[in-house]
Amino acid sequence: MPPPPTIAGVEIETVGVAGAGQMGAGISEVCATRGLRVAVVEVSAELAEAGRRRIEQSMARAVERGKLSEAERDAALGRITVGTDLEAFRGADMVIEAIPENLALKREMFTRIDAIAPDRAILATNTSALPVIEIARVTDRPEQVVGTHFFNPPPVMRLLELVRTVATADGVVDTARGFGERLGKRVIVAQDRGGFIVNLLLVPFLTSAIRLYEAGFASREDIDDGMRLGCNHPMGPLQLIDYIGLDTHLAVCDALYEEYALPEYAAPPLLKRMVAAGWLGRKSGRGFYDYRDKPPAKAG
Ligand code: 3HC
Repeated sequence: MPPPPTIAGVEIETVGVAGAGQMGAGISEVCATRGLRVAVVEVSAELAEAGRRRIEQSMARAVERGKLSEAERDAALGRITVGTDLEAFRGADMVIEAIPENLALKREMFTRIDAIAPDRAILATNTSALPVIEIARVTDRPEQVVGTHFFNPPPVMRLLELVRTVATADGVVDTARGFGERLGKRVIVAQDRGGFIVNLLLVPFLTSAIRLYEAGFASREDIDDGMRLGCNHPMGPLQLIDYIGLDTHLAVCDALYEEYALPEYAAPPLLKRMVAAGWLGRKSGRGFYDYRDKPPAKAG
């Protein structure tokens, strides 16, 4: 394992994570299993508890699959605290924000994190598509702000997309890259443009699948199996949108459309209506498939 990354001689040993949803919990799990101490903060005791359960369940799966020993799991869980007070970030060497894709919310969170985190700390956002500099500019340390775009599920997906803004210092990029490599990720560096690298390619593909389905060209199963079995994708595009969350996909489409004003990024009406109905995919029990009382539809 590479040595711990440093910021001006300070090792990144303690990471703060704001948000314990799918991404925040997964990022926390990855950091803790790689030996970092992690302080996770949620907005309510209920969400904090749900986040803790999410981490425990995912680690239990890792133990079942032989990816982690019971002793490693116990040690990793012992390195994680989950709470509701941002004061937990006071000793952090790096803070990663993983709250919903809403610029106003993220800016407010960064203002608060900037006031609490030590001066040396790198601040990172897990945004999927928002301009990182728009978040960084509310802090007193825009040169120490990066995007760390993890992929869902973070413990399994091998990529970390590192986003540098026009203001990010070279040394901060190097340190953040070292951090990602310590987590066992392949780190790719993207400029701060909507969609970075992966979503710029992935979003039009997923959105095209919604358009095919909306137009009645094919059934959801045939669209998904087409890509699963014809192109060896682990999930079909509609299954993947259910997995990512329809609300997240809509927010990413909106951010990309705002950035480029190209039709391939425009959110299809069906997506908007499903989100309005509260059909957010797996997390709400219903999306393109119904998860309420049966396992997700899998063809093949
Ligand atoms: N820690 C470590 N490894 C774990 C783990 C954990 N907590 N949980 C599961 N694993 C491992 C398993 O052991 C297994 O490894 P193996 O293949 O070596 O045995 C592997 O991960 C797969 O786990 P499962 O068998 O439990 O699950 P599936 O085989 O059903 O795969 C999936 C599930 C990984 C989600 C797969 O369907 C997949 O890769 N789907 C596509 C996911 C994807 O594209 N994600 C990116 C979304 S886009 C995004 O995030 C960007 C955002 O901006 C929108």
